[in-house]
Amino acid sequence: NLVYVLNGPNLNLLGKRQPHIYGHETLADVERDCTALATELGLEVRFLQSNWEGQIIDWIHEARETAVGIVINPGAFTHTSVAIMDALNTFEGTVIEVHISNVHKRESFRHHSYMSLRADGIIVGCGTQGYQLGLRRIGALVAAA
Ligand code: DQA
Repeated sequence: NLVYVLNGPNLNLLGKRQPHIYGHETLADVERDCTALATELGLEVRFLQSNWEGQIIDWIHEARETAVGIVINPGAFTHTSVAIMDALNTFEGTVIEVHISNVHKRESFRHHSYMSLRADGIIVGCGTQGYQLGLRRIGALVAAA
């Protein structure tokens, strides 16, 4: 039961980048927490980050062959990328979209998400805990199947 946890641009700077918005946890901290939780849930996690749109699309194609679910925080590509949405539309498993911040409290350009046209669930404004909530949702769906 493999789950891809995909992170888009600038999330490599998590913990250093606008900590008043995104918190002090680093992406390595998030990966550690996700890996620990996945073990508990009987899932396996591939935790990845790229600043490149095409790389994220390639990983979604990889996930098509191997994964039951994708937890994705596409960063700013959320609001711009028809191409990532199209890639997610080729994936048949569960897609959970995560945003660390509450995008709806922020600039209006963050209120629209191409990803939400595909996502099965969306977790917004729960901080880095959102990733774990996403994994829990996929774990529950796998257990119920
Ligand atoms: C984000 C919200 C996006 O609007 C922003 O571009 C990000 C991070 C979040 O996790 O809150 O890079 O996806």
